[in-house]
Amino acid sequence: MSTSAIDKTAAVRIRFDQVSVDFDTPQGAMRVLDQVSFDIRDGEFVSIIGPSGCGKTTLMNIVGGFVQATEGRVLLDGQPINGPGPDRGVIFQEYGVFPWLTVRQNIEFGLKLDANRAHAAETAEITDRYMSLMGLTDFAGHFPKHLSGGMRQRLAIARAYAVRPEFLLMDEPFGALDAQTRSAMQDLLLQVLQREGKTVMMITHSVEEALYLSSRIVVVTARPARVRAIIDVPFGYPRAESVHEDPRFAALRSQIRDIVMQEYAAQVRQAPTQAGRASAGQ
Ligand SMILES: Nc1ncnc2c1ncn2[C@@H]1O[C@H](COP(=O)(O)OP(=O)(O)OP(=O)(O)O)[C@@H](O)[C@H]1O
Ligand SMILES: [Mg+2]
Repeated sequence: MSTSAIDKTAAVRIRFDQVSVDFDTPQGAMRVLDQVSFDIRDGEFVSIIGPSGCGKTTLMNIVGGFVQATEGRVLLDGQPINGPGPDRGVIFQEYGVFPWLTVRQNIEFGLKLDANRAHAAETAEITDRYMSLMGLTDFAGHFPKHLSGGMRQRLAIARAYAVRPEFLLMDEPFGALDAQTRSAMQDLLLQVLQREGKTVMMITHSVEEALYLSSRIVVVTARPARVRAIIDVPFGYPRAESVHEDPRFAALRSQIRDIVMQEYAAQVRQAPTQAGRASAGQ
């Protein structure tokens, strides 16, 4: 196993360059992101950690093409982002599955888009494979409202993986899963990445999960989100379960937790009712 997961010579794929976002609210403009700058290189897995309501989903939505920066720029392979595209597979925080389509139709959906026509002949094979990997085969004809929260989340994951996007943008993808399924999904993700080599941005509240999966971790501050710390994860890929036992894992976990807890406390001081509502809803 190599000692570092980071190839500092790889091309920059996603660049946040002094990005700020202000949202209009009934109380006036609210700054959600403030001068955020960092790069994600080809093949990197970057996790974002920060308190509830600080601006993480907004950060990802800019890369997804759903939100525009108020100031600064986000570049994808050096180009400004003009809306969503099939190169970016998004797993939304609230599952993002289509309620009017069955499990099978949801997974097929992306495969049938024009942009992915090359896959058309394999659609059934790919759909069957991901339904099986996610344990959804018996529910192929069910609609999302008849699935549990964890199953909906697995369906959203299957949909994103099935089209084999170059970029995976994942907003708390494993948050609604029980501990065993979550751990199985983390290992499956590592296998998919090993096979297909993607560039990944993932939002998580779990320091442990970020350390197990990522090559770098970006800790952001209470709102407005600024870059508080960027931590290089010293473990290479393929990554084995045994890194959990590595003394560096425990040391980094406590170091990152300390920083994260300071920012969570700052967010709660800033807006106790809002932060309380947000975390109660998770
Ligand atoms: N389109 C919008 N218009 C106005 N305000 C918004 C919009 N989207 C998000 N916000 C506000 O911006 C702030 C940051 O939201 P965001 O969803 O980015 O937070 P987050 O860090 O992802 O939180 P969580 O961890 O709870 O998911 C919140 O106060 C939210 O209410
Ligand atoms: Mg969010």
